[in-house]
Amino acid sequence: MKKYFIQTYGCQMNEHDSEKIAWTLDSMGYEISYNREEADFIIFNTCAVRKSAEERVFGQLGELKDLKRRNPNLVLAVCGCMMQREDIRDVVLKKYRQVDIIFGTNNINKLPQLITRYNETGKTVIDVDEDNREIEENLDANRTYSYKSYVNIMYGCNNFCTYCIVPYTRGRERSREPESIISEIKDLALNGCKEVTLLGQNVNSYGKTLERNYNFSDLLKDINNIDGIERIRFMTSHPKDLSDELIECYKTLDKLCNHVHLPIQSGSNKILKSMNRKYTREDYLLIIDKIKKAVPDIAITTDIIVGFPGETEDDFEETLDIVRKVRYDSAFSFLYSIREGTKAAKMDDQVDDKIKHERFNRLQDTLNPIGLENNEKLIGTNVEVLVEDVSKNNELVLNGRTRSSKLVHFPGDKRLIGKLIKVRIESAKTFTLEGTAV
Ligand code: 5AD
Ligand code: SF4
Repeated sequence: MKKYFIQTYGCQMNEHDSEKIAWTLDSMGYEISYNREEADFIIFNTCAVRKSAEERVFGQLGELKDLKRRNPNLVLAVCGCMMQREDIRDVVLKKYRQVDIIFGTNNINKLPQLITRYNETGKTVIDVDEDNREIEENLDANRTYSYKSYVNIMYGCNNFCTYCIVPYTRGRERSREPESIISEIKDLALNGCKEVTLLGQNVNSYGKTLERNYNFSDLLKDINNIDGIERIRFMTSHPKDLSDELIECYKTLDKLCNHVHLPIQSGSNKILKSMNRKYTREDYLLIIDKIKKAVPDIAITTDIIVGFPGETEDDFEETLDIVRKVRYDSAFSFLYSIREGTKAAKMDDQVDDKIKHERFNRLQDTLNPIGLENNEKLIGTNVEVLVEDVSKNNELVLNGRTRSSKLVHFPGDKRLIGKLIKVRIESAKTFTLEGTAV
C-alpha cells in the first residue's frame, strides 16, 4: 500500500482542503503516514497570506531534494494558495525541480488524474484551473475528528483589502447551495458530529451569489434545526457585513456558540481606509456594543495587522485603544507582510521592521492582561466543554473547548473524548483554563 504524508500551512480553509485531499487519496487506496521519511507521496498544501509562510515552504521543499535523491520513487506535490500564483509556480519550476505535481485550490478533485498523468509521463504535471466548481459540491473529506467538523459554505473573497492576497489566490466569492450544505451537515450529525464550524473568507455575505433570497442567518436557522448538532461556529466575519439579523440569531438560536471572531485589522480610520476595509472604528465599536448587549457572555476575538504602510505612532495608539475598549478574549496579531500584486505592496511609506516588531510587542503587552482577566472571570463557574483530545505532554490530562471557544485542560479518561461534559474552572492563564470535570 502506498503511503502519503500531507504538510498543511495556513488557515482552517487549508486544513479542510487537506482533509479533502486525504479523502481522495484514501479512496485511491493510499494509506496516511505521519512520517514523511517513509512516505511514497508527499504533499505540501501551502499558504500565501504572509511571506514567512512562503519562506517556510521553500525551506522545506529544499530539504526534500535529499529525500528524493534517496528514494527516486517518491512523488512530490505542491498545492494550495501559493500555487495559484504564476510567479511562485515559476520559482518552483525553475529552482525546485524535485516537485512532480503542482495543483491549485480549485482542482483537488482532479488529483487522481494528475497522479496518473505523472506516472505515465514522468514529467512535471501542472494544473491550476481558475474556475472549477465541481470540487465545491462533490468532494468529501477525511475529517480529523468525528465529533467536530469544518464545513465550507462559501469560497473566495470580493473585498480586496489592499494588503491581502486571498482574492487573487482563491478567486471571486461564491456560495454553496444551502441544500448541499445542510445535507452534508445532516450526514455529519448521523456520524456523531456535534460541532460544525462553517468556513468562508467572509461568511456574513453568504448567499449573495445564490439565485434566491437566502442569507447567512437563514442558513444558521436551518442548521440549528438539525438533530445531533449541538454547537455551531463560523469563521470569518467581515464587520461591514455583520447584520442586526445575525446578532438576533445569537439570542434565538440555542446552538450558535457565544463567540465571534471579528477582525478589526487596525483601530485607525486613516489606516482602515487605506486598507479598504469599508468601516470606521466607530462603526466597529457600535457593532461590538450591540453584540455585547445581545449576548453579555460573548467571547470576542480578532485579527490585527501591525505596521501597515503609513501607520504612525498615533495610528498604532488607536489600535491599542480599540483593544482596551473591546477587551478581546484573544487575538491573532500579524506583522504586515508585503504581498506582491496587492495595492499595499506599492504604497510608499512602508514601516521599518524594527518599529513593526516593537509595536507588535506592545500590542501583546496590551492584549495579554485583558485576555487573562477575561479568563479569570470564569474561575468558579461550571462550563460546557466538548472534549477533543488528550494533552500532548500528559496522557491523563484532556483538553477541550468551551462554547466560547476557550481551551480547557482537566484530568480525565480518554473515553470522554468526543463528549460534551461540564467542567468546573479552577484556574486561568492567558490562553488556557484549567479545571475538573463535574
Ligand atoms: N500581512 C499581514 N497580515 C495579513 N493578513 C492578511 N494579509 C496580510 C498581510 N499581507 C492577516 C489579516 C487576516 C488574517 C487571516 O491574516 O489579519 O485577517
Ligand atoms: Fe483578505 Fe479582506 Fe477578503 Fe479577508 S476580507 S480574505 S482580509 S481581502
